[in-house]
Amino acid sequence: MSFFEYRNGAMHAEGVALAAIAAQVGTPFYCYSAGALRAGWREFADGIKGMNASVCYAMKANSNLAVIRVFGEMGAGADIVSVGEMRRALAAGIPAGRIIYSGVGKKASELMEALQVKVGQINVESSAELETLNAVAGQLGVRADITIRVNPDVDAGTHAKITTGRKENKFGIDIDLAREAFALAGRLPNLKVVGVAMHIGSQLTSLEPYRAAIVRVRELIGQLRADGHRIDRFDIGGGLGIVYSNEKPPSIADFMAVVAKETAGLGCELTFEPGRRLVGEAGVLVSEVILVKPGAAKTFVIVDAAMNDLIRPTLYEAWHDILPVKEARQDTATIRCDIVGPICESGDFLAQNRDLPPLAAGSTNLSFSTKSIKKEIKTSYFNFTLFKNFILIF
Ligand code: LLP
Repeated sequence: MSFFEYRNGAMHAEGVALAAIAAQVGTPFYCYSAGALRAGWREFADGIKGMNASVCYAMKANSNLAVIRVFGEMGAGADIVSVGEMRRALAAGIPAGRIIYSGVGKKASELMEALQVKVGQINVESSAELETLNAVAGQLGVRADITIRVNPDVDAGTHAKITTGRKENKFGIDIDLAREAFALAGRLPNLKVVGVAMHIGSQLTSLEPYRAAIVRVRELIGQLRADGHRIDRFDIGGGLGIVYSNEKPPSIADFMAVVAKETAGLGCELTFEPGRRLVGEAGVLVSEVILVKPGAAKTFVIVDAAMNDLIRPTLYEAWHDILPVKEARQDTATIRCDIVGPICESGDFLAQNRDLPPLAAGSTNLSFSTKSIKKEIKTSYFNFTLFKNFILIF
């Protein structure tokens, strides 16, 4: 089932006309489909059937409370990278024991709050963090369950800014230095090593990097056990890609088959931390055309959404599909244009050199609710949206 589709020439989300939503809340706005979120979750839930595994939604992909609540209701855990995300996960009903605290820069105060609420696992990324966490746990008189995130030095074959498993990336502890870090963790009295974690990058469209990374970490697990560590958990991270234009990401079933094969006999409980794959196709950004400016070199379509709403095009040269809310006739001639926001820099674009049906300024009588805008500011964090959003133009 498609959750976003044209009905009688107008784009609908789960049967609700986007124009009707725009009339109520004003543009720009994001619209998410709970049905699509649930469908994504079910694919993962089915994928791990028969495996000793759990799925923690990587909240950085979208930390909207309503979105997290949908996953929480379906039994998800959460992968967080800040105490702000932790509070949101708890507020959305995810039990603390199902929260994994990842991230390269955790503050002592954040670690303290995480231990106080008893998060299930902390994925440590440096020796300095091991020491800090040990001290904080000591102050609280508790022992923290930790994994150490290792950096397996594999090329995930994705955009340079979102590859995380190469030696030159800031993430994890270099796999060649991992045994030393585990030895340190073993000596620190307030830490309990429970496993190993990795996350090699995002928007992966090939399973080979996963295979290579798992093989390396599997070898490491053998060495760590020989060194006397108890390694019960293997956190595989997230990273599975989605289709933005013509990518061919692997199915979740194929991904799970590779993981199951490469981890067979390892005796570890597995954790998956998908983000984009769960939410990336479940939302749209709806924007109104402010004006169209034909130029000598190209036509600019100026809309009321901008790089602050969707930074991916300018940050990653990312391509997001754009469709008009009112369906264009099949035989309409297109014009080549840049879709840009109102922000005062040339980097403020949502698409460049895109062939779209002719667009006109939208209706100006949309009601604009400041109440909903204020609420959004209060409850939202600065995060990059991963959405494969259509940017819909009136
Ligand atoms: N686990 C960890 C430790 C991560 O750092 C990430 C993503 C994930 C899980 C989830 O990965 P996913 O399944 O969503 O690929 N802003 C970028 C994406 C950055 C992702 C960073 N880490 C973008 O818009 O493409």
